[in-house]
Amino acid sequence: MIRDLSDDEARRALVCKWGEVPDDVLPAWVAEMDYAIAPPIAEALHAAIDASRTGYPRFGAGGALGAAYAGFAARHFAHDVDPERVVATVDVTAGVRLALDVAAPAGGLVMPVPGYAPQLEMAAITGRRHHALVVDAEAPRAELDLAALDRHFRDGARVLLLTQPHNPWGRVFTRAELEGVRDVVRRHDAFVVSDEIHAPLVLDGEHVPYLAIDGTADHTVAVVAASKAFNIAGLKCAQLVTASRLLHDALATAPMARNDSWSVLGVEASIAAYTDGDTWLAALLDRLRAQRDLLGHLLADHLPLARMRPLEATYLAWVDLRGYGYDDPAAVALERGRVQIAAGHDYHPGLVGHARINIATSPERLTEIVRRLAAALEA
Ligand SMILES: Cc1ncc(COP(=O)(O)O)c(C=O)c1O
Repeated sequence: MIRDLSDDEARRALVCKWGEVPDDVLPAWVAEMDYAIAPPIAEALHAAIDASRTGYPRFGAGGALGAAYAGFAARHFAHDVDPERVVATVDVTAGVRLALDVAAPAGGLVMPVPGYAPQLEMAAITGRRHHALVVDAEAPRAELDLAALDRHFRDGARVLLLTQPHNPWGRVFTRAELEGVRDVVRRHDAFVVSDEIHAPLVLDGEHVPYLAIDGTADHTVAVVAASKAFNIAGLKCAQLVTASRLLHDALATAPMARNDSWSVLGVEASIAAYTDGDTWLAALLDRLRAQRDLLGHLLADHLPLARMRPLEATYLAWVDLRGYGYDDPAAVALERGRVQIAAGHDYHPGLVGHARINIATSPERLTEIVRRLAAALEA
């Protein structure tokens, strides 16, 4: 059911992941998967093109997209979402920015670090102070430091940009952890923007939407999308979810000049993914679990000094390569091994010796990625 793209197909399909690197470089960096899209999505897109559905999308909240997401959230997360409180936006990055601009209170922005690289600039571009909530690189399991979160809120921060499941830690936060976050947030009358783009990609455990925690409705905007799990980021459609009328109205009535317009094809693809994508998604998760296990074996065999964080979700493995003695192992891997992995310091400025490896490819390519990495780091 999961169809691997050949190298030629991948180069034509993934113009960023494959197109931005020279032909002799194996790409394992940006979060895109080397798989053909799910058949129901392809069918929906073909039908839309056949119907010349290439104009503006429908505006307004809810609709077929809201109903499709609500159905997906009920089936996958046992989470009750009001379809009318689902607002489209162009992508998750834009959705986070919009939530910060029109729904969140003024004040500093706390961001768990390492964190999704483009979001490290989110505080600056929304006119806020950046508060880094740093996870200890030595800790075996990445956890949110609630005492440090409390200190940031005392120090002027008002908003937490939560990413859960977390990229690049690969963590799925438990209900108890999220309740702990909620308690600190409420103590300070603070706010949460919860980036849940990786929610369908849980490999172990279960995703608990932050909005499914009691007492979060009045301080939360969740930003979700089918884009990461279904490989449709280029189609540009994410969704903002709220459980309070006030917050919903703030988002839904944002002037058009603030909410970049999402794409009609993105809406079609998202509806197909949420409605008819369960079987393909289950096969994808099986493949990713197998890839994760394979990576564990490959690292043990070829890079015994590497330490990989347990990958509970996503297809992005966070690996500590300090044992090999390079500040920037990704640069060494590219230069000597012709393999492109993501540098850890992009996610945590100043952090040395770490990298993120994208495992969403074929077993053969993953084997070759690690072989090249080992050849480069052990040279
Ligand atoms: C946590 C997180 N948020 C947002 C994004 C980007 O989403 P979008 O392309 O919808 O802006 C990514 C991409 O990998 C991500 O990992």
